[in-house]
Amino acid sequence: MQQVNVDQFKLGMRALAHAVNIITAANAGRRYGLTATAVCSVTAEPPTVLVCVNQRSATHGAVAKSRAFCVNVLRAEESELSNQFSGAQSGEGRFQSREWSSLSTGSPVLVDALVSFDCRVVKKLAHGSHTIFLGQVEQVVFGKKGKPLLYAEGQYAKLASLAHGEPLPEGLDYWGF
Ligand SMILES: Cc1cc2nc3c(=O)[nH]c(=O)nc-3n(C[C@H](O)[C@H](O)[C@H](O)COP(=O)(O)O)c2cc1C
Repeated sequence: MQQVNVDQFKLGMRALAHAVNIITAANAGRRYGLTATAVCSVTAEPPTVLVCVNQRSATHGAVAKSRAFCVNVLRAEESELSNQFSGAQSGEGRFQSREWSSLSTGSPVLVDALVSFDCRVVKKLAHGSHTIFLGQVEQVVFGKKGKPLLYAEGQYAKLASLAHGEPLPEGLDYWGF
């Protein structure tokens, strides 16, 4: 099988624009979390998302042990919080600047996230450095209204405007058939 080199792969992936999220989990009375763009809707019935978490991160162990996680979708103004959860802070220090609550899974919920998905792990698949966790969504909580924080071309970005945002033609639907 032919393989591309890692740099080529990373260069190509820079073209994909992503929402920026904080994935959290709680285990043995401690909170864990990291910034993640590898988050995706899988299916609406049952409501399921997937997240890809590096096996070397502290959050990985907490998700695996608690069999739960929460996806907190960040607002456009939250790039500093994203930095804190991707290395500028560590451990419990990451949670200090903001207010957090929790729902049925016990994973930390960012009170003023754009939206939070509280999930129970239903499947997992280890591949290379990461594990893909499939989470069935037990609760969706809308925090504070706003626009999403994006990440593309190696930098944070915002939606420029919706002026270019053409609606899908009648009869077409994101959720397919
Ligand atoms: C924009 C951005 C997106 C990221 N996406 C992911 C991701 O999807 N999965 C992942 O495991 N790490 C991702 N990371 C890296 C982690 O946030 C970072 O390695 C974090 O410090 C790991 O937590 P730890 O320090 O507790 O191990 C991303 C970082 C940034 C800045």
